[in-house]
Amino acid sequence: MGFLSSRLSRIKPSPTIAMTGRAADLRAQGRSIIGLSAGEPDFDTPAHICEAAKAAIDAGHTRYTAVDGTPSLKRAICDKFARENGLEYAPSQITVGTGGKQILFNALMATLDEGDEVIIPAPYWVSYPDMVLLAGGSPVIVECDQHQGFRLTPEDLEGAITPRTKWLILNSPSNPSGAGYDHAAMQALTDVLLRHPRVWVLADDIYEHLVFDGFEFVTPAQVEPRLKDRVLTMNGVSKAYAMTGWRIGYGAAPEALIGAMAKLQSQSTSNPCSISQYAAEAALTGPQDYIGESRAAFQRRRDLVVAGLNACPGIDCPVPQGAFYVYPSIAGLIGKTSAARTMLADDEAFANALLDESGVAVVFGAAFGLSPHFRISYATGDAHLVEAIGRIRQFCESCN
Ligand SMILES: Cc1ncc(COP(=O)(O)O)c(C=O)c1O
Repeated sequence: MGFLSSRLSRIKPSPTIAMTGRAADLRAQGRSIIGLSAGEPDFDTPAHICEAAKAAIDAGHTRYTAVDGTPSLKRAICDKFARENGLEYAPSQITVGTGGKQILFNALMATLDEGDEVIIPAPYWVSYPDMVLLAGGSPVIVECDQHQGFRLTPEDLEGAITPRTKWLILNSPSNPSGAGYDHAAMQALTDVLLRHPRVWVLADDIYEHLVFDGFEFVTPAQVEPRLKDRVLTMNGVSKAYAMTGWRIGYGAAPEALIGAMAKLQSQSTSNPCSISQYAAEAALTGPQDYIGESRAAFQRRRDLVVAGLNACPGIDCPVPQGAFYVYPSIAGLIGKTSAARTMLADDEAFANALLDESGVAVVFGAAFGLSPHFRISYATGDAHLVEAIGRIRQFCESCN
């Protein structure tokens, strides 16, 4: 009998964090490395949000708070849902956690029993399948390839539902593909779900505000109000307000689920950081200028990266609707050999060779459940992006 639990053996460390770590190691050895693997905005948290946090410290808000959020933050979250999503929630239907990640974790831990299935469209955010496994459930991966815009079709959803299905996880716009579901595409899915009253929906809306070309964001509970009593709508301040380090995420759902998640949180982390909660409240209730500014910057960078990648032989990069990632296909490079004689047998070999030979850190597609692709996070400065695209192009041109 080993010391570590069998539960832990079901999961692997986050491959995106691993790639970022490998890039940091090479940089420490003096190599010139451009990191395009980390999923966080490169901007600073807006000043008025930082000021609110300092004021919270000065006012002595440094003690435990209510387990799943201060009453005033919950009220600000209710107002946000009403204002931006047309969703009416009471504070008793709101939960606040240490990042959106904890909201997802709490929800899955609170609801999954051995053998319960969770439908996860691929490419997916790397943490979904591992969180499901940790909670004892079974991920049911449905591949959604580039030709269908990386979006789940109603037919594929219908085909994946079984008597054991408990949740569908929907992430729009998506990490890693940037694909978003417009109203019609979302409604096609909610229509299927109406026919399956036992299936719940976990809507991960963390990239809600990062949408381009006038794309109109929608969320399942808004598109189909009859589903609202089996939807957990998850969101957070990390990506919208450049607050990844503050660790505040939130969710809205029926009271029974919110209560179960609070019970779990009370025996794990207690409350999210008190000071961060005041900062998040300032983010949601204060000026919203940052959102438009960052969206414009990300759209410019997206266009730069898509055009640059499509000029690389062997790479085919579709135009994403949102988030700050692109997920190009490298089907045209598989089977070729790099300048340093590495056989590009799959997308992992490609990402490793690109890092070793050209000093550009990206994440390989297999980590997100759909190959042969790789993910670039373009949440970094324009000069870095131009340099990285130049190196990737040289790498591709030298493969044969
Ligand atoms: C799709 C998706 N959901 C949720 C999260 C969690 O974000 P946080 O825990 O910082 O709120 C991330 C972060 O990378 C993400 O990409």
